[in-house]
Amino acid sequence: PPTDLFERFCGLTDMDLPVFDISSDEFQADPLPAVRQMHQAGELVNVKVPLFGCLPALTRYRAVDDFLRDSKRFARSGKAAGKRSPPGLNWWMPKVFRAFAKNMLATDGADHRRLRSLVDQAFLKRNVDSMRPGITRIADTFLDDLERQQGDGPVDLLDDFCRQFPLAVICELLGLPDEDRPRFTRWFGSLGRFRGWWSFAQMIPGLIRARAYLLEQFRSCRNSPRPGLITQLVLAEQQGGRLSEPELLAMVFLLLVAGHETTTHLISNGLLALLDHEDQKRQLTDDWSLAPTAIDELLRYTSPVQMSKVRYATEAMEISGQVIHPGQMMIGLLVAANFDSDQFSDPFHLDLQRSPNRHLSFGSGIHVCLGMKLAKLETAIALERLFTRFPSLYLACDRKEIRWRSRIGLRSLESLPIRLQ
Ligand code: HEM
Repeated sequence: PPTDLFERFCGLTDMDLPVFDISSDEFQADPLPAVRQMHQAGELVNVKVPLFGCLPALTRYRAVDDFLRDSKRFARSGKAAGKRSPPGLNWWMPKVFRAFAKNMLATDGADHRRLRSLVDQAFLKRNVDSMRPGITRIADTFLDDLERQQGDGPVDLLDDFCRQFPLAVICELLGLPDEDRPRFTRWFGSLGRFRGWWSFAQMIPGLIRARAYLLEQFRSCRNSPRPGLITQLVLAEQQGGRLSEPELLAMVFLLLVAGHETTTHLISNGLLALLDHEDQKRQLTDDWSLAPTAIDELLRYTSPVQMSKVRYATEAMEISGQVIHPGQMMIGLLVAANFDSDQFSDPFHLDLQRSPNRHLSFGSGIHVCLGMKLAKLETAIALERLFTRFPSLYLACDRKEIRWRSRIGLRSLESLPIRLQ
């Protein structure tokens, strides 16, 4: 039966629960009506995964937080639940997917601690704070270019600033040459777009080139060490026992992709939310000391990351009247948890002064986002520099013409046409 096939080949099962299509155009354009329905439907719903079937998903704040914190009962590594493949990967997938998948986000316990501890320091608050002048300089360089090239026409702020700026920051942090940036945009452009089997095939050439490129960079850092995290990681690899070459590859790939893709969409989604809420925008632009709470609220209200990665249940249990078997794959719907009225007062309202604001947009538990301090700082700098330099910037198209990408779990615009002045 189909259920057996799903279980065998994809690790999913069909549970008798209300189904939500979170990659649909309607959901991506405005997730809030569906989030209200999810809360009415209960603590557990099914989300449709294009190509594969359905995945059980938790919707309430407390349940999602507990789920992410309990890495013993809900493990990232399929091994803990008696499965052979890493999460999201199956035996039939091309080898290059596996080469990049053995990263800290796919491991639990001692392996996770070892991998994360190798890079933890670089992302601590004090180290990230010390990057502020350099990051501001990078933002201003891009804005200088935009100002020069814009003429009278609109600019696509998504591609020309929101994407390039965080990519430049993570490349500098890793120690990758600036001139190689355009290649990453080409190679990684198709990642995460699962609309048909063809989309898998489209990702492969970029991944193969990225693997060859990174292996070459490792060789070069071994021969002549240079500033940046890659050289530090290469040294850890050479000291032996701390990091193997496949782990090094998976780590740098994770930092490179997670380190810019999500922040790109926080800046662009956040900017659009501010343009949609003129009164809130004014509060922020009148007083930039509001930036820390404002960024947290933008993360809660319009987070690019809408769901956690898959976890495997490691033991039998019951949730919301459903029997969960060991090995069952599940996710936490961060976007639904962030609008739970048991946790947030007036959750459907954007309030840049909201405090406390313990949103789950960076996850929770041992896998809580490594780069959260960096992402917040980059977003604060991006918005502050944009609105300070171009105080009257406005949307260069009708609001109804704004299109969102049909992706699962990552809310991202197709483009963001802006007139700077
Ligand atoms: C993990 C969100 C920016 C690196 C995560 C997780 C979330 C998340 C939700 C946990 C996933 C799960 O548990 O299933 C975001 C958002 C960002 C952002 C919303 C920006 C707005 C960054 C940046 C980096 C980064 C700038 C920089 C390198 C990572 C890494 C992990 C992670 C390495 C895995 C941590 C672990 O497994 O211990 N992120 N992230 N992220 N993020 Fe981010």
